[in-house]
This record gives sequence, C-alpha cells and structure tokens, in this order.
Amino acid sequence: MALFPEYIIREVSEKNDIYDVVSKYVRLKKSGNSYIGLCPFHNEKTPSFSVSPSRGVCHCFGCGEGGDVISFLMKVENISFYEAVKKLADMANITLPEISGHDREDARRAQERREGIYAINKEAALFFYEQLKTSRQSIDYLKKRQLSGAVVKSFWLGYAPDSWNSLFDYLKSKGYTESDIYNAGLIKKHESGRYYDMFRNRLMFPIFDASNNIIAFGGRVFDDSKPKYLNSPESAVFSKSRNLYGINVARNSKKNEVFLTEGYMDTIALIKSGFTNTVATLGTALTEQQAKMLSKIFKEIIICYDGDNAGCMARLRAITVLREHDIKISVIDMGASKDPDEFIKTNGVDRFKAVAAKRKNDMEYVLDYFGKDYDLKNPQSVVSYTDDVIEYLKLIRSSIEQDVYVNMLSSRTGVSANAIYSQLGISKAKQPKPAADVKGTDPLVLQLKSTAGKKHDILDKTREHLLSLIIFSKAVYNKNKDCITESLFEDEFHIRLLRFVKVCYEEAGSVTPAQITAHFDSEEDNPRAARILSLDNMSDDSAKAYEDYIKIIKSEIKKQSIHRLINSSETDDLSRINNLLKNEG
Ligand code: GTP
Ligand code: MN
Repeated sequence: MALFPEYIIREVSEKNDIYDVVSKYVRLKKSGNSYIGLCPFHNEKTPSFSVSPSRGVCHCFGCGEGGDVISFLMKVENISFYEAVKKLADMANITLPEISGHDREDARRAQERREGIYAINKEAALFFYEQLKTSRQSIDYLKKRQLSGAVVKSFWLGYAPDSWNSLFDYLKSKGYTESDIYNAGLIKKHESGRYYDMFRNRLMFPIFDASNNIIAFGGRVFDDSKPKYLNSPESAVFSKSRNLYGINVARNSKKNEVFLTEGYMDTIALIKSGFTNTVATLGTALTEQQAKMLSKIFKEIIICYDGDNAGCMARLRAITVLREHDIKISVIDMGASKDPDEFIKTNGVDRFKAVAAKRKNDMEYVLDYFGKDYDLKNPQSVVSYTDDVIEYLKLIRSSIEQDVYVNMLSSRTGVSANAIYSQLGISKAKQPKPAADVKGTDPLVLQLKSTAGKKHDILDKTREHLLSLIIFSKAVYNKNKDCITESLFEDEFHIRLLRFVKVCYEEAGSVTPAQITAHFDSEEDNPRAARILSLDNMSDDSAKAYEDYIKIIKSEIKKQSIHRLINSSETDDLSRINNLLKNEG
C-alpha cells in the first residue's frame, strides 16, 4: 500500500539529515564515522544508540530499535508513517504532491478525522475542568480522596455537570457539528433522534495516548450508584484494549520497570507518590496488545493489582499474557489492602516502597499463591497443588529457568523433578540422545556434538554482514551476484531482504537504505532491517570481506548439516559424516 511515490520518500529521506533529526531528541557525540548517544527508546546509562549519517540510519545496540529517518520519527513521536513523512516534508520544504490515489486520500481523511477527535476531546476536557472549579460536590469529593489542586491540574480532572446538554451546547457553540461530537463519543442518540450528553454528573478522567492526545474519558459517579465508571465508546482514536491509562507519563519516566494497576485512582495515587512509571488497564483484563506495548518500553512489569479474589485471578491471567513477551514479571503483595490507592493512604509511601522492594517474581508468586490453598501433608493436596503450578511452569520458555522452578516445586512437594518434567510434557525420550549413543567416539564427532543445538550465532551474524556489504557495495554485488543466492540463507527475513536488494539493483541499478527501510516497514521487519544497515563492515577491503563472509557461511552451513545428521535418531552412519567432513570445499 504505497501512500507516496518512491521518489518522494527518497527525497524526504535525503533532504532530512538523520543527524539533524535525531539530535533534536538525543544528545549525540561523534564516534568514528558515526555518532553515539543515549537511546531514546529505553533507559540506559551508557550510550548504545548509534547514528550513521552516511547511511541514513540509526540503531540501538541495546534494545534493537532504530531505522531510517522516517521510522525513527514514527517511533519517537509515536505517529503514523503518513504523519512522519508529512512532518519531514514540512521540515525540508518539500511539497507533497496531490495524488488522487485512494490510499493516500483515505489515509489523509483518517488522519484528519483523528485530529478532529483529539481537538474536540481537548475542548471537552477544558470544559469539564472549568466546571469542576465551581462544583461543590466535586471539590468535596476530591478532598475526601486526598487529591490536590496540583493533581487535578496535571491529570486534567474535571466535572461533567448534571445536565443533558451542557457539553453538547458548549461544543456546538465552538463550531463543532453534531456528527463531529457524536464521532468523538461525547453524545448519545436517543430513539427520538435527539442527542444528549454521554457523561452527566461524573468526575471526569481524560485518557491520554502516549503522544498526549486525549483519546477518551472515564467518568466516575460520586456515590455508590452503578455503573461506577463510564468510559467513552470505542472510536477512531480509542480502543480500550490497545491503550493504557498513564502511558503518556510512564513513557517519559525513564525507568526500567513499570507498575501495572487496575484502576485510574490507583495510577493517580502511585504517580502522585513519585512512581511516575505507573499505568492502568481500562476496565478490562490485560490484553495482548497492551503487553506488547509495555514490553517494548520496559524491562520489568510489576503487577500491582487489588487484593481481592478478582485481583488474584487477574494477576494469574496477566502472568499468562505477559509470559508470551520478553519482559520480566513480578508481583507485589499488599496484604489485605483493597488496592494500591488504599494501601498508600493507610500505610504511606515508604511502606509501599518496602513492599515493592520485596516483590516476588511471577513463578515464586505462583508457587506461594497456590500453596496457600493446600495442606502439603495430605497426598491428594500435593497432587492438586503440583497440577496447578505445572500449568504455569509450562509458560516458561527458558529451559534453565524452568529447571529452577521444577526443582523448587519438587523440593516443596517431594514429587521428583522427573515426574514433574514428564507432566510438563518434556519426556526423556524427546531429549537428544547422549553422546555415547552415537556410534564410535571419534573426537571430532564428539566435539561437534557438544556444540550441537547451539544457536548458530556466527552464521546468522555473518549472513547479515554479507547482506549489509552488498547493500553498500555495488561493486561487490555486481561481481558476485550469481554466487549470492538464497541457498546461503535460511531466515525468511534475510531471504526477503536479499530478493529486494536484487530487484533494486537489477531494475534501478542501485539500492539505498531509505528504500530498504521504507520497504520493510512492519513493526517486526523495520528494526531488523535497520540493524543490518548499521552493521559496520570492518574491513576496508570489500572484496576480501566478501570472500571471508562466504567462506564462513559455507563452512558453518556444512557444520550444521553434520550436526543434523549426528542428532537425527535414524542416522548412526559415521561414514556419511566422515564423507561430509572430508568433502572440504
Ligand atoms: P475507586 O473505586 O474510585 O477507588 O476507583 P478504582 O480505579 O480503584 O476502581 P475499581 O478498582 O473499582 O475498578 C478498577 C477499574 O475498572 C476502574 O478504574 C475502571 O477503569 C474500571 N471500572 C470499574 N467499574 C467500572 C464500571 O462500572 N464500568 C466500567 N466500564 N469500568 C469500570
Ligand atoms: Mn480504588
């Protein structure tokens, strides 16, 4: 789906020096041919974010984020491809052509629609905020909840008056149409066709996205009536499963860990106590998308849910969802307290700090949590307890980590680690045969066997260096293009990249980093492309580097096939292995 013609993307990329753009966000220092600074996408003390103006790319060697000037801007500002190109075009005084392509028209309209909703929401928030100042009920309530004027201001809290049309009339007086206001979810339509205010007589919590746009509202009643909270409906800018309350603040906290709470009030209580790295889900269980979002920004997530039964269930669920992502998970135990807000109110910030410091990691939590329900002196309870815990041990991906908790469970219950493993579905039979089972004791075979199954780091790294080399050296490509075949690669992404590079060279005679990053623009591909583009091909002699890479790749591929032969249960034919070994080429 090309929004802009290729030449526009190229012009926008070429006229915006990546150094100039990145240095608006990151203090950069010269280092060889490139620049280096603290990564804007994760918290770090030693700079690992590298910018290469000659190649037009940046890349963080710590967290893997990066890309060309367009994708950098998209990520750092959290904006769409379309918005980033528009911004960069403005900065470089490039006029974007008016193309009648449907995609571009659609994207522009969708963007305008989103911006329209942000504007109405902001207007509404200011209206609610003004109303709050004169609402005795709100002021009393805020006092009761110990929320100061400063808190009200920084969270833009407000009051939706007890009226059917005060916001509606106000927004119309500001020039907005019924359909604008309806699309923002601020009014509802009655059967009679009349519109009325969605939020009435409620304390209002604007919900911000990571770029500080107001995307929705939550409104709380002042008494015990139901529903306690009312949220804006889903809209072009709001999806409760894709956003998190507090993300705009947490994103800038520069912390490695983030507190995850259940409610608006909990997040506010923690943020005002100095834990600016706090977010809340929006009335639903933690979703896949939210977990993904958090795992990109933070290294650890501290689940800080209510102490009731529902909170316990939600913790277990969150653990299950988060285990799919690359993030450390821990759990805070606040004892009998209802929620973090109440905990801080009754026990103070220092006690909260203390329980936070004593947080358990998720599997420890699971072992303890289910342990409370069972009397481990009773054999049947041991069986049930072990079964319960094993469901969670299944979520562990690292075999070392799994081993640690299998042993812990084993020592708590007296059930053998072997039995636990077999329940986990990891039977001895599935494990690779021990070395002695392979016929013979050829030392070379044994040595190869000992490294079998290890990740082929060298191989994949060399493949990426080779890709980078041919991207930046047309001469090397032209000289060797017939030898640079897909058979040298295995990874599906590497093969797609190679194909793209070949097409560019064959059709246009050249390939640029900007073209590559624009082509590989998905969330998964883009950082991988950027990493390859930022690889330093250390040697000045490209031809020699090429020969070296090819030699390594070929010999590693051969080693791999030997490993496969040795490990395949059908083969114990040493002569085939020896043939492969002799057949040096
Ligand atoms: P307080 O009760 O004022 O302390 O707020 P809280 O944030 O602690 O609320 P609670 O723990 O009851 O609920 C947690 C979150 O669930 C809230 O922040 C809301 O996002 C959501 N929620 C609670 N009640 C409702 C409801 O009635 N409707 C909807 N849509 N969401 C709700
Ligand atoms: Mn609460």
